[in-house]
Order: sequence, then C-alpha cells, then structure tokens
Amino acid sequence: MSAAKQGDRKGSGEWREFFWNPRTHELLGRTAASWGLILLFYLVFYLFLAGMFMLTMYIMLLTLDDYKPTWQDRLATPGMMIRPKGNQLELTYSLTQTKSWEGFVQNLDSFLTPYNDTQQVQMNDDCIPDQYFIQEDSGEVRNNPKRSCQFNRSMLEECSGFPDRSYGYSQGQPCVLIKLNRVIGMLPGKDGQSPLVTCAAKREDSDKMGPLAYYPPNGTFNLMYYPYYGKKAQVNYTQPLVAVKFLNASLNTDIDVECKITSNTLAPGSERDKFAGRVSFKLRIDNK
Ligand SMILES: *[C@@H]1O[C@H](CO)[C@@H](O)[C@H](O)[C@H]1NC(C)=O
Ligand SMILES: *[C@@H]1O[C@H](CO)[C@@H](O)[C@H](O)[C@H]1NC(C)=O
Ligand SMILES: *[C@@H]1O[C@H](CO)[C@@H](O)[C@H](O)[C@H]1NC(C)=O
Ligand SMILES: *[C@@H]1O[C@H](CO)[C@@H](O)[C@H](O)[C@H]1NC(C)=O
Ligand SMILES: *[C@@H]1O[C@H](CO)[C@@H](O)[C@H](O)[C@H]1NC(C)=O
Repeated sequence: MSAAKQGDRKGSGEWREFFWNPRTHELLGRTAASWGLILLFYLVFYLFLAGMFMLTMYIMLLTLDDYKPTWQDRLATPGMMIRPKGNQLELTYSLTQTKSWEGFVQNLDSFLTPYNDTQQVQMNDDCIPDQYFIQEDSGEVRNNPKRSCQFNRSMLEECSGFPDRSYGYSQGQPCVLIKLNRVIGMLPGKDGQSPLVTCAAKREDSDKMGPLAYYPPNGTFNLMYYPYYGKKAQVNYTQPLVAVKFLNASLNTDIDVECKITSNTLAPGSERDKFAGRVSFKLRIDNK
C-alpha cells in the first residue's frame, strides 16, 4: 500500500516537474528561449501567410472591373418576370372584392413610378427606335456614365394606369407587365427586328383565355434599350416592359398562361430550362 502511495506521489511529482522544472527552468519541457523561438517561428509563419493572402487579394482586385462583371452566367436566353408580383406567380382575385385586387394595383403603381413620362424625360434620352444604342468605351477611355433611353409609362397605353387607375382589374380585363431579365451586353435581335413577347394559354385553356392586347404594339422590347451596360455604367437605365391585357378571360376558372420571347438572336428556351425566355403564371378572376 505504502509502495503504491509512494509511486503515486512520485508520478505526480514527475508531472509537476514536467510542467515547471525549477532546476532547469523548463516550462513543459522547454526553456524560455526555446519557447520564444517557437512563438517567433509561428509569428513569422502566420505573418507570411497573411501577407501572401493580401497580395493575392490585391492582385485579384486589380484585375476586377467596376463596370463589368468578371463572371456572368452565360445564359443563352434570359428569364422573364411578371408584375404585379403575385403569390407564387398566381394572379387570383375577385371582381366583387376590391381588397382582392388592390394589392396588385398598388404593386403596379409603385413599380411604374420611375416610368412616369416627366421623370423619363428628365433622366433619359429620346432614342432612335429599332436600332441598338451603342456606347462603347474607346480602349481604356471610359465612356461613363452612359445614357439610357426613355421608356414612357404612356407607351403602355391602356395598361399605364392612366386614365384607368385599376389597370383593368376592376373590369375583369387585368394587365400583366412582363420584363426580360437584364443581361449585360445582350443583343436580343438583329436586322432591326426587336424581340417580342407572345402569350398563350397552356393545354386546352385557350378558349378560356380569350383575346389579348399587347402594349407597346406587337409586344416588342425595342432594340434601342439594348445593349445594357450594367447598373454602375448606366445609372438611369429603365428596363423596357411589355404589357399584356386580358380582354375577355373566362371567369371563375383557372387559366394557365405562358409568355415567351421570340427573337432572331436568342435561342428558344430549351425543354431542359423551363425558365429561359419564358414565364408561366396562373390567372383566375372570380365574380363572386
Ligand atoms: C407619376 O404620374 C402620376 C400622374 O401623372 C402622378 O399621380 C404620380 O404622382 C407621379 N409619380 C411621380 C413619382 O412623379
Ligand atoms: C440621370 O438622371 C438625372 C436626373 O434624374 C440626370 O440629371 C442625369 O444626367 C442622368 N444621368 C445619365 C447618365 O443619364
Ligand atoms: C416620352 O414622353 C415625352 C414627353 O411626353 C416625349 O417627348 C418623348 O418623345 C417620349 N419618349 C418616347 C420614347 O416615346
Ligand atoms: C407589328 O407586326 C406586324 C407584322 O409583323 C408589322 O407589320 C407591324 O408594322 C408591326 N407594328 C409595329 C407598331 O411594330
Ligand atoms: C367573351 O367570351 C365569351 C366566352 O367565354 C363569349 O361568349 C363572348 O362573346 C366573348 N365576348 C366578346 C366581346 O368577345
């Protein structure tokens, strides 16, 4: 028993000595000088790593261009979006309940505010239609900021919110605005042919959908709004819109609508990518 106790004491004494040896002045088996060297080594090592990191970052940032993304998805055909933004691309409302469509009208009102004619005239140029508005930089000399073309709210005619403040929602002839996602440098047409939007009902819903009206005429995104040079270069860019008005949609039934872009330069959206160049939404107008 006493031998075991002695061994114990000896073991703990050894351990204590390992932690701090008063004779050799070693802490955890190393002298102060040795510890100092180790700390110095790690300090230098980590400073070196940090330096390497900062140098790489600096070189990378030098190669970045504020005005152009270094990486951009090479989407053959951009996606499209609708306004008003409904819940899950569903525009469902009741003619008899003002509250059910008020939200849509407010959404359109605020979305279209920057499109007010007076504002467009202040911000943007009255461009020549049906041709690209090219403003390239000449070599290293930046041609910034770049100008943009006017897209007047009044070009949406019946869907501009004037004089019909409800965008047709109160009469069961709702307007839906369609925009093409911005892609820097995209040229969406050639030979003066602007890309255009066409909407159709899916499956056997075409009788239910009824005729449509497009604004601007033919549902085109005019070429003068392209190419887009990016938010920073083209500060006042106003995305062109196409408004679709449902003139005689059937009531009390779901109508699945799909709108597509037709262009002579953009590939038609493949079956693989169901968002390229198209947008689908559900429309339902109730009268009770
Ligand atoms: C846009 O124009 C309409 C009518 O012309 C006006 O009621 C509205 O206040 C204008 N909005 C802005 C932000 O100028
Ligand atoms: C942007 O619009 C403002 C007016 O809101 C105008 O003063 C400015 O010149 C415009 N800038 C460009 C680059 O078009
Ligand atoms: C926009 O409206 C202004 C004033 O109403 C007009 O002078 C201009 O030509 C219009 N721009 C386009 C592109 O229609
Ligand atoms: C609409 O398209 C038709 C046929 O493609 C064309 O004849 C007409 O000029 C176009 N209208 C406008 C305003 O572009
Ligand atoms: C609207 O569509 C209905 C069928 O859904 C049809 O009976 C009616 O004649 C159409 N109205 C007009 C003005 O086209």
